[in-house]
Amino acid sequence: LNIVHIAAEMAPVAKVGGLGDVVSGLSKALQRKGHLVEIVLPKYDCMEYERITDLKALDVDIQSYFDGQLFKNKIWVGTVEGLPVYFIEPHHPAKLFWRGQLYGEHDDFKRFSFFSRAALELLYQAGKRPDIIHCHDWQTAFVAPLYWEIYSTRGLNSARICFTCHNFEYQGTTSASELSSCGLDVHHLKRPDRMQDNSAHDRINPTKGAIVYSNIVTTVSPTYAQEVRTAEGGHGLHETLNTHAKKFVGILNGIDTDAWNPSTDDFLRFQYNADDLKGKADNKDSLRKLLKLSSSEPSQPMVGCITRLVPQKGVHLIRHAIYRTLELGGQFLLLGSSPVPHIQREFEGIAKQFQSHPDVRLLLKYDEALSHSIYAACDMFIVPSIFEPCGLTQMIAMRYGAVPIVRRTGGLNDTVFDVDDDTIPFQYRNGFTFLTPNEEGLNGAMERAFDCYKNRSEIWQQFVQKVMRIDFSWDSSAEQYEELYQKAVARARAAAT
Ligand code: ADP
Ligand code: GLC
Repeated sequence: LNIVHIAAEMAPVAKVGGLGDVVSGLSKALQRKGHLVEIVLPKYDCMEYERITDLKALDVDIQSYFDGQLFKNKIWVGTVEGLPVYFIEPHHPAKLFWRGQLYGEHDDFKRFSFFSRAALELLYQAGKRPDIIHCHDWQTAFVAPLYWEIYSTRGLNSARICFTCHNFEYQGTTSASELSSCGLDVHHLKRPDRMQDNSAHDRINPTKGAIVYSNIVTTVSPTYAQEVRTAEGGHGLHETLNTHAKKFVGILNGIDTDAWNPSTDDFLRFQYNADDLKGKADNKDSLRKLLKLSSSEPSQPMVGCITRLVPQKGVHLIRHAIYRTLELGGQFLLLGSSPVPHIQREFEGIAKQFQSHPDVRLLLKYDEALSHSIYAACDMFIVPSIFEPCGLTQMIAMRYGAVPIVRRTGGLNDTVFDVDDDTIPFQYRNGFTFLTPNEEGLNGAMERAFDCYKNRSEIWQQFVQKVMRIDFSWDSSAEQYEELYQKAVARARAAAT
């Protein structure tokens, strides 16, 4: 198949969170299966340009329509970890992707509706006829209605559209008038069965539009797919998802097991594997020294957490875990930052309080290299999310031998199975879980983990080896996407004959 992903993120060049990991991990896995996979991204100023090879501009600009005018876009082509990527650089006076950050701008709706239209224009003008166009999250959700409302009437109709929603909390809802900028007809689309927001009727909702217009709709774990079909978990879209249930499915994300591999990881001082864990202990010692933490007791357990600090992630429980870890005699490392000013300020306060503490360090920044060292150094890893569509950090942590302590929700529920849960076959049990999202719930799971670590060290050691050997690769999930793509393409071909 010829597959084009249109996305706002792609690891490692433009990544804010898991979306970036998924776009590159899934693309690589599909490429390995023999498909032609290309990616279209905005050309941000703040990308990691040194990780793009052979970057060059195409001779011909692509014109795209926006706000009643035609704008030129310079198109760049490069390779990112073996994947061909097109970067769109709009000649727009608002310097849409020249802002020093990927998101969080007052005109994000305009920036990404512009990008979605320009990406389709690129495919159309370059004569590309993909079998599948796969768009992700609200930033590229416009692709689905644009494709079927505008491009299909121009003969670009051989593709099937797949939309993956990585988080239904972010839907991109805005005032209806803004939609017309990218050429969509507001009156036609502002209807309850199309793009009208389900609660604010004067607004339009790109995520809903993508659900309605796409041929395939996915989210990133089976449990989350069930949760979002309920009034409590659906962020207002449960009815839309239930109406379109036939094309909606939850497919668990994988992780890129080449990028996340403790036996080859160049970010680590000491590489290691499940058969020889000495390097893990050495990494722990080395990170403790680097961060000026106490290193007198090699066996003192280290708990880690690497996350965006947003309410979804259970920030109050993360804060609580710091204090509880100290009471239980462990060390705590947090790597994270927050787009929410009051949360960022709160954690800056805590970081200051602990700045020279021997057992706690809060590193309030985005730092990829440090994230690898933390996964490698930690014995335990907490993810106490209130909701979690999939979650990648618990899987990465396990690959590096850090035992997860998680709340049973969304993808965490599909990847971590409690050691004490007799209803689950023993070979699948791989962590400590809790259900009630409060301090008592988390305490129970942490206490059981510390007890096992301190009092049953042989069992703990086997546990570490077991979690490191679990297969979290993209192989089986990519196969599920492949099957969905193929069925959709076959249906389209059958309908055309
Ligand atoms: P989400 O996408 O909701 O943020 P995921 O668990 O799916 O959560 O993915 C988070 C990804 O971002 C992981 O690859 C994690 O290692 C990375 N990450 C999160 N915060 C940081 C940070 N402060 N520094 C480096 N990497 C981070
Ligand atoms: C979102 C979700 C996270 C998921 C990631 C990748 O950011 O919050 O749970 O793992 O997307 O799909």
